[in-house]
Amino acid sequence: MTSISRRRLVGAAFLLPLTHGAWAQLCARPTPRETEGPFFKPASPQRIMLIEPGSKAPRLMVSGRVLTADCKPAANALLDFWHADETGDYDNRGFRYRGHQFTDAEGGYRLETILPAVYPGRTRHIHVKVQPAGGRILTTQLYFPGEEENQRDGLFRADLLMRMADRQQGAFDFVIA
Ligand SMILES: [Fe+2]
Repeated sequence: MTSISRRRLVGAAFLLPLTHGAWAQLCARPTPRETEGPFFKPASPQRIMLIEPGSKAPRLMVSGRVLTADCKPAANALLDFWHADETGDYDNRGFRYRGHQFTDAEGGYRLETILPAVYPGRTRHIHVKVQPAGGRILTTQLYFPGEEENQRDGLFRADLLMRMADRQQGAFDFVIA
């Protein structure tokens, strides 16, 4: 087979709609777990908007879905987010940049916040705990593509990178085992 026809075949395969089986395989890879780190606090307020009044920090919106291992939307799943502020500090006394929410009927969520700053020893990241209704908690972290520190951070994982439409809009779908 010439390389041209092989390339055509690859292209054709890429254009085929994914069968249900292929989708199921995609979803069969659960989102990896990561350490919660030292700054998790229980009982965060329920809210999707974490931006502090008067904050001039660059905005960040993260959205996506929570899916089960067989690719079904996980409605009413709990997502508890926490991250560093614009100076790289966590609020350990109060609940700045901490909040929990529940997915909608399609498993969708949306977080409106600021871009967390990089702090010493870590690349830019967002912490999250995800728990399907009545299920086990997934603790993990989300990362930003194109960050210099990604390669130097031992916790960084490429499969936890958000898809960024631009600097202010990230997307990530969680798959719960
Ligand atoms: Fe952190």
